[in-house]
Amino acid sequence: MTDIILGIETSCDETAAAVTSGGHTILSNVVWSQVATHHPYGGVVPELASRKHMEKIVPVVEEALAIAGGHANNIDGVAVTCGPGLVGALLVGLSFAKAFAYARGLPLTGVNHLHGHIAALYLQPDPPPFPFVALLASGGHTNLYYVAGPMDFEHMGQTRDDAAGEAFDKVAKILGLGYPGGMVIDRLSQQGDPERIRFPRAFLDKTGFDFSFSGIKTAVARYVRGEKEASTTIPDIAAGFQEAVVDVLVQKGISAAKARACQRLALVGGVASNHRLRERMKQAAQEAGIAVHIPSPELCTDNAAMIAAMGYHQLSKGENSSLDLDAYSKTSHSGRRGVVK
Ligand code: KG4
Ligand code: ZN
Repeated sequence: MTDIILGIETSCDETAAAVTSGGHTILSNVVWSQVATHHPYGGVVPELASRKHMEKIVPVVEEALAIAGGHANNIDGVAVTCGPGLVGALLVGLSFAKAFAYARGLPLTGVNHLHGHIAALYLQPDPPPFPFVALLASGGHTNLYYVAGPMDFEHMGQTRDDAAGEAFDKVAKILGLGYPGGMVIDRLSQQGDPERIRFPRAFLDKTGFDFSFSGIKTAVARYVRGEKEASTTIPDIAAGFQEAVVDVLVQKGISAAKARACQRLALVGGVASNHRLRERMKQAAQEAGIAVHIPSPELCTDNAAMIAAMGYHQLSKGENSSLDLDAYSKTSHSGRRGVVK
């Protein structure tokens, strides 16, 4: 029987390990953030990320197992992120997971990081019943999915350029706020006026579900370089930018749910921890008669519990990976790779 899963996540700048039960209960969830390592460089340095993962993977897993207590002796399978992400970083988690699974004679499954973000919903006390529409907004992706079952993801749309989180990070850099940008802009915006400066919203084809965020970022850069009025503050610019991104995400999310006649909309990924987005999405969904599901903020940003939750469903269906499971940097939307059926 598949029940207790060890999840491993090293796709970017968080070294994470978690133990879950039944694909819905978190027994431990340890995240080691590398922010301090990358902060001086203003962004994630892939080589440094790999090295930090190598340094931290063993203590992070040990801690996750220790917190899980007696359950650590009853692990039924290992789930590991195999992409998309930084290949060098992914390989650290992947190599560790393979060795751990092999040494203990456990099944292994490779998890698509984006599916993992959606599986964060399965760990909530009130997971959305299927089907639902999911808006995934992270540092590398902005995608819309129609989710018909725990492993049934139909891709509806995506960003054509920057991801929403990437726009937050780039604008933070333009404003001299450093890395990581999303959280700082979120915080600073609370002191700014979101109506003071109106940055462009790119809705592209109004009826379609693709996104574009590079124009907003460019407009902020142009504003800071030239048109800036003396009395506008950095919090005003941050709030104006954030409002533009939130407007687009809210509008597209709600209209995607409506287009599929779906009464449930989920918001996942690092950007889903944004206060303004959470508030505005809840408000808009309520007005539209749609139930909105957003994981708790710590399950929106990268973690291994979501990987374990997804892995639970894969292993339960016999989607085991072989030991030649490989890492990949980009995803096609067709699903997991390295899967032995
Ligand atoms: O999902 P995630 O942790 O990692 C990826 O898979 O990319 O998302 C990270 C992204 C970063 O771009 C970060 O700036 C953004 O999520 N982010 C936020 C907030 N917290 C993290 N963006 C806006 N507001 C936040 N509070
Ligand atoms: Zn992520």
